[in-house]
Parts: sequence; C-alpha cells; structure tokens
Amino acid sequence: MKKVDVVLGLQWGDEGKGKVVDVLTPSYSIIARFQGGPNAGHSLHFEDKKYILQTIPSGIFRDGSINIIGNGVVIDPVILSKEIAKIEKDGIDLENKLVISQKAHLILPTHRILDAASEAAKGGAKIGSTLKGIGPTYMDKTGRNGLRVGDILSDAFMERYETLKEKHLKMLKQYDDFQFDITEYEKEWFEGIENLKRFKFVESEHFVNACINSDKPILAEGAQGSMLDIDFGTYPFVTSSNTVCAGVCTGLGVAPTKIGDVYGIFKAYCTRVGSGPFPTELFDKVGQKMCDIGMEYGSTTGRKRRCGWLDMVALKYAIMINGVSGLIMMKADVLNDFDTIKVAVAYKVNGKEVKDFPFEVNDGIEPVYKEFKGWKTDINNVRKYEDFPAEFKQYVEFIEKETGVPVKIISVGPDREETIIR
Ligand code: GDP
Ligand code: IMO
Ligand code: MG
Repeated sequence: MKKVDVVLGLQWGDEGKGKVVDVLTPSYSIIARFQGGPNAGHSLHFEDKKYILQTIPSGIFRDGSINIIGNGVVIDPVILSKEIAKIEKDGIDLENKLVISQKAHLILPTHRILDAASEAAKGGAKIGSTLKGIGPTYMDKTGRNGLRVGDILSDAFMERYETLKEKHLKMLKQYDDFQFDITEYEKEWFEGIENLKRFKFVESEHFVNACINSDKPILAEGAQGSMLDIDFGTYPFVTSSNTVCAGVCTGLGVAPTKIGDVYGIFKAYCTRVGSGPFPTELFDKVGQKMCDIGMEYGSTTGRKRRCGWLDMVALKYAIMINGVSGLIMMKADVLNDFDTIKVAVAYKVNGKEVKDFPFEVNDGIEPVYKEFKGWKTDINNVRKYEDFPAEFKQYVEFIEKETGVPVKIISVGPDREETIIR
C-alpha cells in the first residue's frame, strides 16, 4: 500500500509550493489540493512559460497526472473557470486531468461581499484578507449552511442558492454604509457553474483511497502556510482552514495511518503578506533588498510582501505540528549578496529567552539572532550540493542540526530546472 505524501508551507505562505509540486509530480500519479481556495497563488515556471494557479493543483502541466480538488477546498466558479480557460488555451486537455470533489464548498458572490464588508468594518484591525470570500464560505460550511459542488446537479440548486444569498443579504444590512452590486459577478458565477459541469464531480475520498489501495502514488498539495493555520497560526491573523498536515486527513478523506512523507517548505528567509505578527520582520534597507531581489509581491493580489530573517522558533513549531520528515529550502539565491545572514534562534519575552512559539506574539517580543557569514556568490547555477560555497552549506547544516530534519531539496531560482534534489 502506498501512502500519501504531503507538500505544505511552514511559514506564512508563498514559500514556493507550486514550484516544488510541479518538480515532484513526475514521481506521482495523483496531485490533490486539500484546503484553501483562490486565496492561494502558486507560481510555476518552465520552458519560458509562467502560470499562477489558485484552485487547480500544481501537477496539471505534467503528462499523465490526475489532479484532484478535494473536499476541503472552497471553489469560486468564476476564478476556477478563468484558470481553466487559460490552461485549455495552451492545448492542455483538462477534462481528462482534473476532477472535483462533490463535497467541496462553493464560494458565492455574496461570500465575497461579506468578506469585503467584514474587513472594511474592522478598520485598523483588519486581517488583510485576499477578499476572495474564504472566511465567510468556511463559516457557512461549519455553520452547516453551505452549498457544495454536488448540489450543482440537484433540482433544488437554485432554491438553495437563493436561500443562502437571502441570508447573506440580511447579514449585509448590518454594514450600514457598505455599497455593493453583485449583478455582474452573479452572471459570471452562473456561467462558471455551467462550465464546471464538463468536469468529473467525484466522491474524492473513495477515489483517493482506491488509488492508495492500488499503489498509485499521491501527493497532497497544501495552500497558505502553517503559521496561517486556523488553529495553530497567529490567530486571528490567519486563514480559515487547517493548512497543517491534519488538513490532508479531513480535506481528502485520508486516514492518519496513510500519511507518508511530509515535506515542509520554507524560504531561506521569511515573508508575510497581510496583517499580523511577524517577529523577524525588517523595516530597513536589508528588508527592502530581500523584497526587491526576491520580487516579493503577491502572485494574485500584487500586494507587497513583508520580509525578514528566517525564524527558527516559528519553523520548529511548524515542523512539530506537521511531523515534517523532509525540509525543502526555497529562494536560497535571494540571499546571494548579503554580507551577514541572521536567523532568530529564540525570542526575548519580558527579558526572558523563550524557544517555544508563544500564545501571544506582540511588539514586546524581540528575536535573538545568530549570525552567519554570507556566501556572496551567485548560486543560481549550482546543481549539485557539493558545489555550493562553504558558507551556504554551513547555513543549511545549521538548520538541519537545529530542527533534526534533513534538507532534501534546495531551490535556487523560479524555474523547474533550478532545483537541487539531494
Ligand atoms: P506558493 O504560493 O507557495 O506556491 O509560492 P508563490 O508562487 O506565491 O511565491 C513564490 C515566488 O517565488 C514565485 O514568484 C516563484 O516563481 C518564486 N520562486 C520559487 N522558487 C524560487 C527560488 O528558488 N528562487 C527565486 N528567486 N524565486 C523562486
Ligand atoms: P499561498 O497558497 C500568503 C493570507 C492573507 C491574509 C490571511 C487571510 O499562495 O501560499 P484569507 O483570504 O485566507 O482570508 O486571508 O492569509 N493569505 C496568504 N498569504 N499566501 C497565501 O496562499 C495566502 N492565502 C491567504 O494575506 O493575511
Ligand atoms: Mg502564493
């Protein structure tokens, strides 16, 4: 029996999950998204092409792969249809490669409006949501009001849609001065729903378990990152799903005993987009340099990502929660030209050093840094671990020693080819 391997983010998202899943797909038959929705933006670069995927799993460009949108995902039919159209335009036969769980929930046009109204009402305390309707859709899921993909085929679909929409319109009345018009989006939404009917709606839990039982290798692709997890992230500045490994079990119907390797992805430094605590954030020229070289702007929202040094306190916490068995270090090349590289190895809270990620992360927290000498060499063309400069190897080996987990893949550029597998 084959187990389900997992790729997930260990920081605040945008670690490079899309690239890694695309690189690993030739070793798998099935790639499955298990949570999140179009708040994700997963970038893939190959053969001078660039794609950004929001809902579709990142295995889609590899021949022979089946890509599943699992029950834990929330789907906006407008955004998904746009993704589909872009890929089909390039001659890829999606109808035979993409399957959608009947149990995945639908993001309604009014979920997006509720997201925007709720954020606007929060003022300075806003989450910095991607405004894709993620929070309100998961609220309706747990509140047992949601609409699911399987409902699309029911005769009662329109009635259920109208009932939920009416409920949302009533809720929106509490936001007195929030103006909105869903007419245009609603039209596109129903076109999107019609378009989705071309695809196979499956009982993905049966599909996935049948694959496990017939020894077909499966890779589960996470969205967001562990520090944005609804339970373990920097609440309330988080997303509304379980981004951690446990989300694979609930988001695909995989038993915990059937989880195999867990690959945790992290950048050689740290970024965060949206509001919320970020202990190692840099507000100086160094942070700006990381942002410029790393081109740290959101893949879908275009928002500037906040940048800072690698945070071992948060990283070790994420490794613990996820049971990470192998680490993947991304964007190592971004640090090519730094004299000194810092890593937070502890936090100082009220004058006391702590190594466990605390309940509350506020401005009173001060990172304790260990410094490394920068490698000051262009590593983009390195393809064998042995060929890395000694200072870079010291950095990698320090992370392995601190975490007790091997760094199995190192990425030195956005392209598929710019990858070192150890
Ligand atoms: P994801 O959401 O985890 O899939 O990550 P994103 O795609 O949102 O953000 C990662 C960004 O970094 C994308 O623009 C990638 O093309 C780029 N990228 C990925 N790996 C590397 C790398 O090793 N070096 C550099 N310079 N860029 C990378
Ligand atoms: P990928 O999969 C980075 C952040 C938002 C906001 C918070 C809540 O590309 O790594 P939401 O729209 O989910 O209600 O927003 O989470 N966020 C992400 N940040 N990468 C993502 O996805 C993100 N998805 C959500 O910026 O702070
Ligand atoms: Mg992203």
